[in-house]
Amino acid sequence: ANDGLAPAPPMGWNSWNKFACKGINETLIKQTADALVASGLAAVGYVNLTLDDCWSAAARDASGNLQADPVKFPGGMKAIGDYIHGKGLKYGIYASIGTATCTGKTPGSLDHETQDVAKFASWGVDYIKADRCNVPSGEVLHELFNRWLPAIHATGRPMILSASDNGGPDEPWSWGPRAAHQWRTTGDIRDDWARVLSVFDGNARFPGATTPGSFNDPDMLEVGNGGLTDTEYRTHMGLWALAAAPLIAGNDVRTMTAATKAILTHPEVLALDQDPLTVQAIKVADDGAGRQVWSKPVQSRGARAVGLLNRGDSTATIAVAWSQIGLAPGAATVRDLWARADRGTFTNRYSVDVPAHGLALLRITGTDPPLATGYL
Ligand code: GLA
Repeated sequence: ANDGLAPAPPMGWNSWNKFACKGINETLIKQTADALVASGLAAVGYVNLTLDDCWSAAARDASGNLQADPVKFPGGMKAIGDYIHGKGLKYGIYASIGTATCTGKTPGSLDHETQDVAKFASWGVDYIKADRCNVPSGEVLHELFNRWLPAIHATGRPMILSASDNGGPDEPWSWGPRAAHQWRTTGDIRDDWARVLSVFDGNARFPGATTPGSFNDPDMLEVGNGGLTDTEYRTHMGLWALAAAPLIAGNDVRTMTAATKAILTHPEVLALDQDPLTVQAIKVADDGAGRQVWSKPVQSRGARAVGLLNRGDSTATIAVAWSQIGLAPGAATVRDLWARADRGTFTNRYSVDVPAHGLALLRITGTDPPLATGYL
């Protein structure tokens, strides 16, 4: 949405991917807030700490307000927000546009949007993930999502809206940019290589919807959750950065390995995700055998971010030609982002060996093609 609240893809952490319904509670959230700061993740931008489904009680209170699950959050939702803010972080909370949340265990916000969003504001919430489960038949999904941003703006409190519509039946890229700051383009990610690739592909269907303030969302990160190799997690992270996707970590940050932390905090990969041009990469070459080239312009003259993706099961040589990424023929410099190393100056094309399931992430700086006569 064009309200200045999310100029770059939102970053943070969310409880769902690792802890789901059973694992969320006050201790986890406080320890995670501590760990986000102590690990350095907060300092590089992972500031929105979001409590996903199962934070709330099974029923509203006597005034019709959502309230904390008394066992999981005995101190209440304002207190946990205060703790999060005390660490210098932002407070995110999950809700549903339907009659119940996606686990079906706790109330949704249908016809309570204004009241619930005002309540969230009173707790100091900074980020709302609105999910799309248990929507009665006859209701139009995006019309329900359309109620949220006006409710947010009415509170006067800046709150980012993540529309978790799961790529719904009604093309989220067509209404998402006006209704929310980020909108899900696919079903749920899983900590599984094939699933990571498939949600990336699903999210690539309408790259034009991503602009400053509005982001296609291929779902939260699984980096560090154990189902992929570190090479595959680097690819997952690099693809999200090429996509200018929201970066919402979903691992146990209290116990993450050095490799996981290095992937999540890599400065040049984060800079790519947060690049001020805010363009989502598109696929510019595909040999049909697992070798693909993804590219987007970044904010610097003649510069492109390029991903050479090897979906195959053995090492492959992958090439990119300047003509594929909209650069004029001639010399261009190549930087390897993961290695943080300049590879040199190359003419017209570059190729490199990419390991199985790997992604070479490059910044290629050459010359923008001249305007043809007649444009001006
Ligand atoms: C849906 C969402 C997930 C998570 C769960 C919670 O499946 O897509 O990200 O929020 O609901 O129940």
